[in-house]
Amino acid sequence: MNLKELMLTRRSIRKYTAEPVSGEMLEDIVKAAMLGANGKNLKPWSFIIVQDPETIAKLAFCRAGKAPMLATAKAAIVVVGDESVSDTCIEDCAAALTNMHLYAHSLGLGSCWLQCRLRPSDTEGISSEECVRQILGIPEGFLIQGMLAVGHPDQSPAPHDEAALPLEKIHREKW
Ligand SMILES: Cc1cc2nc3c(=O)[nH]c(=O)nc-3n(C[C@H](O)[C@H](O)[C@H](O)COP(=O)(O)O)c2cc1C
Repeated sequence: MNLKELMLTRRSIRKYTAEPVSGEMLEDIVKAAMLGANGKNLKPWSFIIVQDPETIAKLAFCRAGKAPMLATAKAAIVVVGDESVSDTCIEDCAAALTNMHLYAHSLGLGSCWLQCRLRPSDTEGISSEECVRQILGIPEGFLIQGMLAVGHPDQSPAPHDEAALPLEKIHREKW
């Protein structure tokens, strides 16, 4: 598949089969994150690859209503940013997640972005970020942008339709 075909067929996958995902594949996905554009090339992100099913199950409680995709995910890749390194940390972490999501699809894997920043956890009064921080032992001061749930797809949503893109949002020369 060329890149455009990959982009058209990439969808958020929230249900995965029981087939394991190899450590090599997960590391490759993180390498794709590290190949992303980032402000001033300061690379303010770090990544935690979680494969322990018990930990993945705990992470599901880090979003209000529980994160349904983590019920079957074989891995979660958590994206942690250091805002003291770069003022584009949030954008850099988002670009990293985007790269991972698309690259996972190129490997035939399904994945879904799970937002943590600015979101509540399943426990009242505890933010999603705080919940992930406690479970994974992430020091105070680091931003927890979100995570990518990963597994072999157990659902196949329709590809995007290029003809249905909201082209009216394109302005030319002026707003
Ligand atoms: C910044 C961002 C945050 C997202 N957070 C979540 C989330 O918390 N839970 C979820 O199920 N999907 C999440 N998604 C996935 C979107 O819901 C999904 O990309 C969108 O509905 C379009 O569908 P598609 O990815 O299949 O094209 C997020 C995506 C982005 C870019």
